[in-house]
Amino acid sequence: MKNCRFGVFGFPVSHSLSPAMHTAAFNALGMTDCEYKAYAVEPENLKEAILKAQAEGFGGLNLTIPLKEKIFETDLIIPDAFAEKAGAVNTLTFKDGRIYGYNTDAAGAFAALEEAGCQTDGKKILIVGAGGASKSISLFFAERGNSVKIINRTAEKAQRLADEIAEKTGNSNVSGSGFESGWNDLKEADIIIQTTELGMGKYEDVSLFDKLPLLKTEQKEEMIRSCVSKKTVFDIVYNPEETTFLKESKAAGAETMNGMMMLVFQGALAFEIWTGKKPDIGVMRKAVSDALL
Ligand code: ATR
Repeated sequence: MKNCRFGVFGFPVSHSLSPAMHTAAFNALGMTDCEYKAYAVEPENLKEAILKAQAEGFGGLNLTIPLKEKIFETDLIIPDAFAEKAGAVNTLTFKDGRIYGYNTDAAGAFAALEEAGCQTDGKKILIVGAGGASKSISLFFAERGNSVKIINRTAEKAQRLADEIAEKTGNSNVSGSGFESGWNDLKEADIIIQTTELGMGKYEDVSLFDKLPLLKTEQKEEMIRSCVSKKTVFDIVYNPEETTFLKESKAAGAETMNGMMMLVFQGALAFEIWTGKKPDIGVMRKAVSDALL
């Protein structure tokens, strides 16, 4: 057994790309004594599994679905301010008998946008979806002072989330609604971030554009062009195949990006929290794209 141990807890977790990504990062830094593995941990066993990892001297852990929120029920961790507000933790460290919690997902999304050359300062951001991923990303940009509009299939969920974020950040330019005003919301936005499961492997690959009400179907292509042309459209899904939503956006002249670099950067930020070292982003990216093939 290696004496520098890391891992990801999730349920299910077998599909996780994190072991390949972190192992490549450790190897590239010559940290061959370190290992990173995926562990299937059922939500009801989370507390016990974390305490076991702590007792065994783990250096740190990632948490993924459905444990990011569940961790708050264990009373084990000291979350940082952002993770506390987001109500979700994806990174744990063990230090001096204490367990600290962080959330690197939204900072990963931000780093991916920056790397793609997308300037976000002062931009109007449209977030599609009102689940956990939307919450972290919306909160992150609201804290940075961006105008944030959240649209979601279930309008009340978007409104509730927007109200919560506006209250937590003091940013009054945060609002939420259903899909009924979707075309107009797309038109007004500078950057569009799709956070729902639409287009993910196990779901049918229906584009967001097909969920928005149109008077006539023939208008669709023209509407897409007038709404997204020359804008950044970011879909946090990281299928090897681009989602229909991204393909349609690209065809209409948008700068498009998928979730692969968000995955890489959230991992890189966790790696830095654990080790104090900056991992090689190119090596991590290659490990993820090879694993996706
Ligand atoms: P996550 O934590 O991954 O963000 P989640 O909390 O399960 O996921 O939230 C899923 C999001 O995807 C929600 O915004 C959900 O919309 P509803 O709030 O209306 O349920 C959205 N979603 C899932 N399937 C969808 C579909 N077929 N069409 C539109 N939105 C969908």
